[in-house]
Parts: sequence; structure tokens; C-alpha cells
Amino acid sequence: MRILFGVSLLICLFPILVKSLSPSLNDDVLGLIVFKADIQDPDGKLSSWNEDDDIPCDWVGVKCNPRSNRVSDLVLDGFGLSGTLGRGLLQLQLLRKLSLAKNNLTGRISISFAQLSNLRVLDLSENSLSGSISNDFFRQCGSLRSISLAKNKFSGHIPESLGMCSTLASLNFSGNQFSGSLPPGLWSLHGLRMLDLSDNSLDGEIPKGIEGLNNLRGISLRKNRFTGEVPEGIGDCFLLRSIDLSENSLSGGLPSTMQKLTLCNDLVVGKNGFTGEVPEWIGEMRSLETLDLSENNFNGHVPDSLGKLPSLKVLNVSKNSLSGILPESMRNCVNLLTLDISNNYFTGELPSWPFEFGLQKLLFSDNRLSGNVDNAFASSLESSRHKLVILDVSKNQLSGEIPPSAGGFSRLHLLNMSKNSFAGSIPASIGQLKILDILDLSGNQLNGSIPLEIGGATSLKELRLEKTSVGGNIPTSIGNCSSLVSLSLAHNEIIGPVPASLAKLTYLETVDLSFNKLTGTLPKQLANLGRLKLFNISHNQLQGELPAGGFFNTIAPSSVSGNPSLCGASVNRSCPMVLPKPIVLNPNSSDADPGTIPQSFGHEKKILSISALIAIGAAAAIVVGVIAITVLNLRVQTSTSRSAASLTFYGGDDSHSHTSDGNSGKLVMFSGDSDFRTGTHALLNKDCELGRGGFGAVYQTMLRDGRSVAIKKLTVSSLVKSQENFEREVQKLGKVRHDNLVALEGYYWTPSLQLLIYEFVSGGNLYKHLHEESGGNYLSWNERFNIILGAAKGLTHLHQMNLIHYNLKSSNILIDSSGEPKLADYSLARLLPMLDRYILSSKIQTALGYMAPEFACKTVKITKKCDVYGFGVLVLEVVTGKRPVEYMEDDVVVLCDMVRGSWEEGRVEECIDSRLQGKFPVEDAIPMIKLGLICTSQVPSNRPDMAEVVSILELIRCPSGGQVESGSGMGSGSGSGLG
Ligand SMILES: *[C@@H]1O[C@H](CO)[C@@H](O)[C@H](O)[C@H]1NC(C)=O
Ligand SMILES: *[C@@H]1O[C@H](CO)[C@@H](O)[C@H](O)[C@H]1NC(C)=O
Ligand SMILES: *[C@@H]1O[C@H](CO)[C@@H](O)[C@H](O)[C@H]1NC(C)=O
Repeated sequence: MRILFGVSLLICLFPILVKSLSPSLNDDVLGLIVFKADIQDPDGKLSSWNEDDDIPCDWVGVKCNPRSNRVSDLVLDGFGLSGTLGRGLLQLQLLRKLSLAKNNLTGRISISFAQLSNLRVLDLSENSLSGSISNDFFRQCGSLRSISLAKNKFSGHIPESLGMCSTLASLNFSGNQFSGSLPPGLWSLHGLRMLDLSDNSLDGEIPKGIEGLNNLRGISLRKNRFTGEVPEGIGDCFLLRSIDLSENSLSGGLPSTMQKLTLCNDLVVGKNGFTGEVPEWIGEMRSLETLDLSENNFNGHVPDSLGKLPSLKVLNVSKNSLSGILPESMRNCVNLLTLDISNNYFTGELPSWPFEFGLQKLLFSDNRLSGNVDNAFASSLESSRHKLVILDVSKNQLSGEIPPSAGGFSRLHLLNMSKNSFAGSIPASIGQLKILDILDLSGNQLNGSIPLEIGGATSLKELRLEKTSVGGNIPTSIGNCSSLVSLSLAHNEIIGPVPASLAKLTYLETVDLSFNKLTGTLPKQLANLGRLKLFNISHNQLQGELPAGGFFNTIAPSSVSGNPSLCGASVNRSCPMVLPKPIVLNPNSSDADPGTIPQSFGHEKKILSISALIAIGAAAAIVVGVIAITVLNLRVQTSTSRSAASLTFYGGDDSHSHTSDGNSGKLVMFSGDSDFRTGTHALLNKDCELGRGGFGAVYQTMLRDGRSVAIKKLTVSSLVKSQENFEREVQKLGKVRHDNLVALEGYYWTPSLQLLIYEFVSGGNLYKHLHEESGGNYLSWNERFNIILGAAKGLTHLHQMNLIHYNLKSSNILIDSSGEPKLADYSLARLLPMLDRYILSSKIQTALGYMAPEFACKTVKITKKCDVYGFGVLVLEVVTGKRPVEYMEDDVVVLCDMVRGSWEEGRVEECIDSRLQGKFPVEDAIPMIKLGLICTSQVPSNRPDMAEVVSILELIRCPSGGQVESGSGMGSGSGSGLG
């Protein structure tokens, strides 16, 4: 501790000690040692600096005058030094060059260079030095030729004293935080050749008198806040080669004196507020190689005189208000490499001359160019064709086809023809662009499909074909574009599957296939794409399971929405536990011989395991279901006493009004009498109870006119929506009128009790007719057929009204006195709040066997296809006379799996209700069973819709019209497998 303190004290006093104690020692050695003591040298670059040496001339970075052995140059660029600049340097009295560029030096420069009177070159660029430069700093700079403080963090004003450095040739203060206006004294530096003040925060006008810098070769004031006009005097700096005034707020026109600058190579004035026309005199600046007028307010035409600039290599006039056409005279600019006229109002056709000789970059984007590009492309000479690197004609009004000759620009990296009116198909020759990085043809009216040859563009990183109207498939060959990072094919007519080859493109980050007509299942391998950030497949017709894992576990719902048959956690729709191959069944096919089984039925083991799984799933769900319903019932019981009171109150009121007062609730009848003969209190009378369902108990009562009605008390009352929503939904259900649907006559609302008033159907429900022995009475084949057909019609009507039944089962099918079936309890799940609807409607369904597999999970989007599944089970139930799920001693038998199994084994006749055996031609039942099996397909999209089912049933009934047994025309083509 003490020793350390001693050492640092010694170092602090070193300069003083040196001066006073050891005049004989070399000042330079001590100065450098002190300098070294002030800095950190993590790479040990200065390890050769040894204080025991007599002279420092062999030290790294040090150079001496050979005669005097005094240090003349100290060059430590890029040594990784940090720390501050100490006083030690002041000992190096004969130092001519000090260069400490590209280190990590920090702090202020507090030393004065008065003592370094021999210093000619000072380079402190690219450090982290900060603070302002004191005005004294340049007081004694008599010999200074070059100073660079570039890329530090210096701030404050540029000191006026700088004007005293009369020998200064090069001044580079670029990349700091200098502010304020320029000291006019700067213009007295007659020897100055290079002035770089770019990238600071300097402001004010550029002072007059710049013509004093008559040796100036280059000036950059880029990226500051200078305002006002460019001083006229600049035209007298005859030697100027390079002028960069870009990224300021300069205004007015370019001074015409500039035409005298005939040696000037680069004139860069982009990103200012210059106005007026591009001056004709610009053609006098004969040596111009770069002319950048971009991002100003230049207007009018491009002058013909540009053709007088034979050396011009880069012309950038983008982002102005220029109009007209490019002058033909520009053909004379034979050295032109880059032409950027984008974001203007240029009109006419795409000029051909830029294509004739070897330009590298052609940017015409965002103008008003029109006509086709055939001529321009065709005028490209064989030799120049291979020089073009960038071609951007996007955002114009170009039309015609994309010429196949585009494929001849073999060195192209970017081809952007987007947002025009190009038509026709994408030329196959695009595939010849082997080093193309970006292809953008989006926003055109193309047709045809993406050419297979696209796979030849193997360097492609970005492929944009959105909104081009292309159709066809995504070519598998896309898998050859192995560098692809971004693929956008959105808003097209693309059909078919997403090719598995996409999964080979390991660099893919964004894929947008939304708004197309893609079908099939997504390849599982896509989950291996490790860099994905976006995979938008929304609004297609994809189906089946999303790939599991990787990006797909967190895919945004909006990226998958609009694919009704897609399933997986991300779409909030469970998948069938095992997805068998799509079952395509034809109920009328000629091979009605049940001995031959469709291929897709052939995996017996798989089918068995499915049934086992479903049985297990069903058993688990039943337990949950029972608990859920018990809880519901408990809740209802507690609220019953309250509602009973209000009901009695209402019962005493003889009003005919449809709405009673707010205390007792609101009664609405959709038509006719609203008064109940027995009074509503009878509703709670057990004797009047007709039965109980998932949604509540049903009671019978009578209207004044003697008409019986069934009243359903919703047991889910604590869960129903707000009154407003409830009423809106009920009103909708009230509009449903069909012979095969039990009509809803009205409703009664209080916050704690809701009643639905239905037409009364006398004949009991189908469940009873099928499964409860009633003295040898059973439904005949014809009656059964009739019930199925009627139920199908009722369901079709519901679906046409965009309602989903949610709760189809035999106990919800009532039979009226004439034997007509009427569906009851439809669409009640609509009365529940959104969130609970899915959970409840699946739990409340007491007969589990009717549930579509996708319906068996917690959160599921229910579609009409779920009803179709339930209907299929119903068909099988009616034909076999067996319950959808039968509980044996040790076994659970799921009806449709059992039938499917028998079908496979060719014993399907054995499934037909034994009570019907011998009473009707068994073959009549075979198409029905097939229909039942199709309707219970695992994959929702393989199920027909109800309208199709009705026509099939009608065909089955009247085979003569529809060649039932030949089965031609059915079972082929469409996604449902039923055409
Ligand atoms: C400066 O220091 C930082 C860390 O502090 C280091 O990453 C960087 O490379 C250094 N720069 C130079 C030029 O040595
Ligand atoms: C000024 O210095 C910076 C940083 O070293 C450098 O990039 C720039 O080219 C210099 N300016 C001129 C005109 O040489
Ligand atoms: C032309 O200038 C604009 C604006 O300054 C710039 O964005 C563009 O890259 C330039 N064009 C070329 C080809 O360098």
C-alpha cells in the first residue's frame, strides 16, 4: 500500500523532478515514460519503452532525428491505448508528428501546444476525447500543417484562434459535436487544401469570404445544420475537386459561379432545400464524376447540357420534383455507372440508352414511366448486359409482359419491377439469374404460376410475389433457393400444398403465404426452421395439425387465422388425437360389397388404437362433465328461491302486456297470447316436468288459447350473457321456423332466471323410441329413414341460417304425432358467454359419443362440421339401434369405431339393429352406414355439409334418379369426399 502510494506520488512529481534534478537525462525518455504512466496499454504494445535506456529512438512508435537523436515522430495509431493525454508529451520539444489515432484515449486535451512549436502533424482522430477546445490551443501553431480531431467527442465552438494556423493545409474535425457557427477567420487559412467539418452540429450561414481559401481542394460540410445560400465566392476556389454540402438545410439555387469549377470531380449537395431548375451551366463543370442533387426541391427538366459531362459516373437526382424525360444527349455520358432518378415525376417510356452501355445501377423507381420495357431491355448489348447489378423500375405505370430477356442480366443482384401494371406470366428465364439477391415483382397483374425454374435463382434472399394474381402451386423447386430469407406470396391465387422442400431453406426468417387458396397439411419439418420470425398462412384452406415445436409453438394466432380446418394449440383448436388418412367414402359406389374395404380403412391396428384412445378420452371427460353439471345445479338451486318469489308475483298479475315491470322480469312472446293458464308458478311444479337436459329442465304448461308449450328453465342461468345479448340471441333463434325444428315461441328474462318457451311436441324423443323398450314396439326401417331425413333437413335449415346446433343427440330429437322429427335444444350455446361456450357446450353434452373429435378438447372453435359429426353418429345410432357409447362390464364401446371396425372386417350387416333383421332389404342400410361413417370422419373437411347430406339421402331413397348403386359421380373430387 505504502509502496504503491510512493510510486504514484513519484510519477506525479516526475516532470518537476526531471527538470530540476536531472538536466543530464534525456528529456525525451522521461517525457515518454511519464506519457506511458498516464495511459493503459492492455496489449503491452509499449513494453519496449524502458526508462533505463539512454535514448528512446528504438522504442516502438518512436522515430528520432538521426542527427540530434531527439524524438521527431510519435506514431501509436491503433495501439489499443486508453487513458488520458498527460503532460509528459510536452517534454518532446522537437516533436514534428504526433499521431495517436484509433485508440481509446479519453478526457480533455488540457495541454497547450505552445511548447511543441515544431509540431506539424497532429492526429488524434478516432478516440473518445471530449470537452471543448480552448481558444489558446491554437495560439502557437506556427508550424502546424495538418490537424485531425475527427471522430472524437469534442464539443463547443470551433476556436477563432484556428485562423492563426497560417500554415495549415489540412483540417479534419469531422464526426464530433462541435456547434455554433463557423469562425470567419477560417477563411484566412490561405494554405488550406482540405477542410472537413462534416458530421457535427454546426449551424448558421456559411460565412462570406470563402474565396480566400484559394488553395482549397476539398471541402466537406456534410451533415451539419448550415442554413442560407452557398456563398458566391466558392466559384473562386478554382482548385476545388470535391464539394460535399449534403445533409444541411441550405437553400436557394446553386450559385452560377460554380461553373468555373472545371476541375471539380464531385459535387454532392443532396438532402438540402435547394430549389429551382437544375442549372444549364452544370455542363460547364467538365470534370464532374459524381453529381448528387438528390433529396432537394429541384424541379423542371434535366438539362441537355448533362450530355457535356463525359466523365460522369454517378448521377443521383432522386427525390426531387423533376419531370419530363431524360435528355437523349446523356448518351454521351459514356462513363456513367449509376443513374438514380427515382422519386420524381419523370414521364415517357423507360429510356433505352442506359441499357446500351454497361451501367451497373439503374434506379427508376417511383416515377410516371409508362409503356412496355421490351425496347429498353432489348437494347442492352451482349457486353453490357452482364454489368447491370441493380435494376429498379418499381412504382411506375409500366405495362406489357416482363420480357424473358430479363433473364439475360446475369450479374443482377436486385430486380425490382413491383407496383406496375405488368401482365402475363413470370418468365422462366428468371431462373438464370444465378446471383440475384432480391426479386420483387409484387403488385402487378400477372397470371400463370410461379415458374419451376425459380429454383435456378439459387442466391435469392428475398422473393416477393405478393399481390401478383399468380396461381398454380408453390413449386417444390423453391427448395433450391437455399439462401432465401424472406418469401412473400401473399394475396394471390396459389393452390395446392405448402411444399415440404420449404423446410430445407434454413435461413428463412419471414414467410407470408396469407390470402391464397393453399390446401393440405403443413409439412411437419417446417418446425425445424430455426430462424423463423414470421410464418403467415392466414386465410387459406389449410387443414390438419400445425407443425409442433420451434417457432410454431409461439406462432401468433393472426398468422394462422382463417383456416377453419387447421388445428393445434396455436389455433386454439385441438387436433384429433391421431389423424388417420382422409377417409373418402362413397355411399353409392358400386362396390357396395362390404367385403371390400377402402384402402384408407386398411390399418386395423391404427383404428383400434384410435378407438381405445377415444374411449379413454371419453371416460375422462365424462367424469369432468358430471362434476361440471353438478356444480351448475348447485348454483341454480341457490338462486331458485329468489326467482320463485318473483315468478309468483308475476303469476298474480293478469296483464296481457308482453313486458311486465322490471321487478319481476320481462316476458316476450314472438306471436299470439302471452298468458299462461296455469300461471308461471306451475313452472316449478315437479309434476309438470317433462325432462331435463344439459341446459335445463323442461316443463309443460298451457297458454290461454289452450295451446301447450314446453318451457325450458335454463340451469346455466348464472352463466348467460347480459340481458341485451341474451335477448338478441333469443330473438335470432325465434326467427327459426322449419317443420323439423321445434319452434321457439318466446322467452322470459330476469337476471337470475331465464325461461325459453317452445312449441310443445307430443310424441316423445327419439332416444326413448330407440333405446327404451316399449312393449315390443320399435321404429320400422321406413320410420327411421324418415327421421334421419327430417333431422337432416332441420339441421340444413339451421346451417343455412348460420346457426350451429351444438348439441345434437337422439334425446334432442322429438317426434310429433305424425312421426315427423323435430330438432330441439338447438344453438343454446349461443346464450353463453363466448369464453364458456366452448367448455360448457362440450361438457354439457351428456351423450359423449356425439362429439366430434376436435370438439373434445377444452378450447375449440365449433363449426358446422361438428354438427355433421353428431349427425353421423345419429345415423349409426338409428341404423344399429345402439347407443353412441355403450358401457359394458369392463369395456367402453364407441359406436362409430365399432361400426367402422365391422366395416373393415366385412361384417357390417351384423351391426344393423337386430329388431329389423329380416324385416327389410339389408342392402338398403349399407349406403346409410357409409353416410354415417363419412359424416364421422376424423378430419372435419372430409365431412360433407348438411345440404349434401340431404341430397345423398334423397338419392338413397329414390335410387332410380341417381344411380345409387353405380355410385358414379360421387365420392370423387371435392374435399368432403362426396363431390
Ligand atoms: C476501446 O475499448 C473498448 C472496450 O472498452 C474495446 O471494445 C475497443 O476495441 C477499444 N477500441 C480500440 C480502438 O482499441
Ligand atoms: C477525416 O477523418 C475521418 C476519420 O479519420 C476520415 O474518415 C475522413 O476521410 C477524413 N476526411 C478527409 C476529407 O480526409
Ligand atoms: C441517391 O440519393 C439518395 C438520397 O440521398 C440515396 O438514398 C440513394 O441511395 C442514392 N442512390 C444511389 C444509387 O446511391
